[in-house]
Amino acid sequence: MSTIYMDHNATTPTDPRVVEAMLPYFAEKYGNPSSPYSMSQDTKRAIEWARETVAGALSCEPRAIVFTGGGSESDNIAIKGTALRRLGERGHVITSRIEHHAVLHTCEYLRDRLGFDVTFVGVDPSGIVDPAEIEEACRPDTTLITVMHANNEVGVIEPVEEIGRIARDRGIPFHTDAVQSVGKVRVDVGALGVDLLALSAHKFYGPKGVGALYVRPGITLDPLTHGGSHEWGMRAGTENVAGIVGLAKALELAVSGIEAEQERLRSLTERLEEGILRRIPDTSINGGRALRIPGTTNVAFHYVEGESVILALDMEGVAASTGSACTTDNAEPSHVLSAMGVETNVAQGSVRFGLGRHNTEDEVDRVVEILPAIVERLREMSPLYRRTGRSR
Ligand SMILES: Cc1ncc(COP(=O)(O)O)c(C=O)c1O
Repeated sequence: MSTIYMDHNATTPTDPRVVEAMLPYFAEKYGNPSSPYSMSQDTKRAIEWARETVAGALSCEPRAIVFTGGGSESDNIAIKGTALRRLGERGHVITSRIEHHAVLHTCEYLRDRLGFDVTFVGVDPSGIVDPAEIEEACRPDTTLITVMHANNEVGVIEPVEEIGRIARDRGIPFHTDAVQSVGKVRVDVGALGVDLLALSAHKFYGPKGVGALYVRPGITLDPLTHGGSHEWGMRAGTENVAGIVGLAKALELAVSGIEAEQERLRSLTERLEEGILRRIPDTSINGGRALRIPGTTNVAFHYVEGESVILALDMEGVAASTGSACTTDNAEPSHVLSAMGVETNVAQGSVRFGLGRHNTEDEVDRVVEILPAIVERLREMSPLYRRTGRSR
């Protein structure tokens, strides 16, 4: 039984064309890009090509691209790197309550260990940050605003352009975590009005452990890693040449034909949502009314545990994940769904489907076909459901 993979927000398979582009940079073209001899010209040029390609995809200067070890590292460099420049003065950071932990925990670190003030702005029931609340939160000592472009759990796209205008008007640096949007929707850093933007290759069919940070020229960051002058002193360490080439190749492929793929994924997602809502009573789509990245849907199966749905789907060869980041010992509902005001037991019954490049209508139909029996079986065992008097 081959797996029906519907967890593309977690990671994607590396495209074979990407692997092919990376291969020469292991055993064949292995020169250190910083070395002076001609053998290293190949790797140096490969990095230049990658920088130009990524810059082209984001509509910026190659000089603005810093290669990193992934999305989490890009977020950390952006947030801590800005804060560290103002360490003596402390400062204030504004973020949202629905950020990925790479941003949330970094902001909490600034607050708990470095004495920064942090304002966590809420979202409406659709998962959208209100730019007016960001504006209200701005203070003379605000060091940074960081609000994500698209949410990883519900796929909701945030009003980054408006927040960018507010930040620009006040001269406050603005970072966005675009790990879930780059490669799925067009991202133009100038149009978004951001100073810093994080992306990660493994979310768009590139390799894991490599990412990039856009740093608008004029913005200065303190490095987190000290050493050589790689990446203009912002990220010391010999470059992951194969990974960087893989990232650029993957982005080039994702961006070419992005509109057609968006259409395809939107229609597949609609088919999945429509099938689930039609066939299974007491279901809803978290963030369903908002503008979302194509391919992501977060479905609440009321009166069941999302974890149990995931396990049952897994037995049927379907890979999806919960909207709630629970562990067995700690059944905390997802911080994203809680911030959206989703009731705890509904949040705990939520499942994220992340559709991607290889999913087909047949796969969607198969999932729609097997889900009703799974949910019905779990509901029969649910005391919560029995109490509704709806069980047979
Ligand atoms: C929104 C968002 N930000 C950051 C990350 C972290 O990226 P990476 O896995 O490359 O460290 C993820 C990964 O799930 C994400 O979805």
